[in-house]
Amino acid sequence: MSEVRKEGADRVYHGLEGILAGESEICDVEETTGGLFYRGYRIEDLSERASFEEVAYLLLMGKLPNRKELSDFSGELVRSRPLPETVRRFLKTVPTSAGPMDMLRTAVSFLGLNDPDRGSNDRPANLRKAIRLIAQIPSLLAAFRHAPEEPPSSDPSLSHAASLLYLITGKRPDPFSEKVMEISLILYAEHEFNASTFAARVTASSLSDMHSAITSAIGSLKGPLHGGANEAVMKMLLEIGGIENEERYIRDRLARKERIMGFGHRVLKGGDIRSDIIKRYSKELGEKKNDRKWFALSSRIEERMRQEKGLHPNLDFYSASAYYLLGLPIEFDTPLFVCSRIAGWSAHVIEQHDHNRLIRPRCLYTGPRELPYLPIEARP
Ligand code: CMC
Repeated sequence: MSEVRKEGADRVYHGLEGILAGESEICDVEETTGGLFYRGYRIEDLSERASFEEVAYLLLMGKLPNRKELSDFSGELVRSRPLPETVRRFLKTVPTSAGPMDMLRTAVSFLGLNDPDRGSNDRPANLRKAIRLIAQIPSLLAAFRHAPEEPPSSDPSLSHAASLLYLITGKRPDPFSEKVMEISLILYAEHEFNASTFAARVTASSLSDMHSAITSAIGSLKGPLHGGANEAVMKMLLEIGGIENEERYIRDRLARKERIMGFGHRVLKGGDIRSDIIKRYSKELGEKKNDRKWFALSSRIEERMRQEKGLHPNLDFYSASAYYLLGLPIEFDTPLFVCSRIAGWSAHVIEQHDHNRLIRPRCLYTGPRELPYLPIEARP
């Protein structure tokens, strides 16, 4: 090892584990207790008592809205739902073989081409862009889901959560299904410097624009170690098929050193409060829909993972069965994460622009030095 490598090695944090890479007033993840606060409010209170619209307002504006502010904000979201004609035309060219995350990554970038505030990174412009993105991402998914048919037309009387379910499934949700979607949207909305949010902040830190930052975030979220996990969980549950196959399946996978999706967390080693919340709703949904199989299987896996690996479920684990019971197509699980996290991402882009410093860390060079340059004809 060269001198330089020895000198820096104790300052290398693989995966940036444990590094405080900046300051933020948006969200507090309590490592020791697993607690979670958005702008100081406990996630338990927000998920039980607030609407997604209220939480999105809180994340973006830094305070809970009063009645008038909420009504104006919700109205703006509803008015922003329709997609620009150019984007609708673009969506018709997306290959049917593409997945909805790939479509979203490109379509959000495409929305940026048409955005009326294109070219401005100031706070009011960023807020308007955020509202349009929160409103239009579900419309993008609806158009993709129902292509080549037209998607259901937006119903202004529906809340953001109910509208999302309606746009994707084509059915108006019952009140309990709407509540589960609302809670899921709130739980997924924000989680400080996770990979996708950090990707958004890195992009914003070069003073690039909101749509570029969100496009980066979507690319990062797609991977199975991050947002792609909820989709992978449901595929796994279906592959296991039933509780009778669980033990062999999980033990075999662990013996092959494969990961069980929906377990573990870089920060929350003692458990994830969001998982406890969505678990209750996944159970109740199964009871209401008279389909208890997925909850029974999931809780058996949870027990085994705790015993065998000391690992706890993260938010993605029970979200998978909840979404399945809501009748949502599995490949829409990660895009639903986008529908929610867009609120947190946008808040972070705004905060980054408000107090910007270019994010540019160093790396420890571990390659060779001072190699002799050989002319091409002399190279082996
Ligand atoms: N299944 C089996 N083993 C696991 C898992 C898992 N899900 N997670 C961690 N481990 C093991 C891992 O194999 C390693 O064991 P060993 O030391 O024997 O090699 C040890 O635990 C430490 O793993 P790590 O990758 O260093 O831990 P990390 O803090 O970097 O992992 C994680 C965090 C989320 C990448 C990881 O737990 C994982 O891959 N989980 C599965 C994917 C998943 O559910 N992702 C969603 C994350 S939370 C919500 C979100 O962001 O979407």
